[in-house]
Amino acid sequence: MINAIQTRYGDLAESSCCLSCGSAASLCEPLPGQVCVDLGCGRGTDVLRLAEKVGPTGHAYGVDLTEAMLDKARKTARKLGVTNATFFRNDLEALALPDASTDWVTSNCVLNHVADKGRVWREIARILKPGGRFVVSDIYAVEPISPGDRADPEAIAECWAGAVTRDEYLAHVRDAGLRDVEITDESAPYGKGRATVASFTVTGHRSCCT
Ligand SMILES: C[S@@+](CC[C@H](N)C(=O)[O-])C[C@H]1O[C@@H](n2cnc3c(N)ncnc32)[C@H](O)[C@@H]1O
Repeated sequence: MINAIQTRYGDLAESSCCLSCGSAASLCEPLPGQVCVDLGCGRGTDVLRLAEKVGPTGHAYGVDLTEAMLDKARKTARKLGVTNATFFRNDLEALALPDASTDWVTSNCVLNHVADKGRVWREIARILKPGGRFVVSDIYAVEPISPGDRADPEAIAECWAGAVTRDEYLAHVRDAGLRDVEITDESAPYGKGRATVASFTVTGHRSCCT
């Protein structure tokens, strides 16, 4: 699976095609001094915008599996003189970030790729500070993906075969203990690969008291 992701996204690192399925990061409202994390940051555009919002006393982290994406993001940060953004390679199922370290988690069109979605949502809950917020855009499958397609790494890397249904998606978010889970934006169904999917943006927060 990891190889299929790295091959597909390695090839796209220097392209300018849109890889997003919503506008999650633009809905984040971090304050100066806060910490933001973008899961599956790709070429790093959202991380650099968040770094600007949190200013020199804050920090924005971009996490991705694909080195070519991270290289591109680091080059752009250097070119723009951004010093409060860090990009590192990490699988989202085991984030190398401390517990309760993050004010905002965002992600755009990434979690559909990940095999163990429950684990990623538990990682999001773990790294958020009490009261910390998440804004995630992603795709869901209108009908369950067939077992054959679910086992096809290339189809998963193409952003459709790893998608779960809307109900299953939201159950993972809630099971992780995240609160006030809301869908702020949702597309009409559309065809992708051999599936019908839809895009949505999900928001919520970690309880302020845990
Ligand atoms: C569709 S692109 C989205 C990139 C970026 N969020 C954007 O909106 O432009 C998906 C990204 O997720 C990364 N990715 C996929 N699976 C991942 C995983 N398990 N852990 C970390 N990154 C992953 C890919 O390398 C790729 O850069």
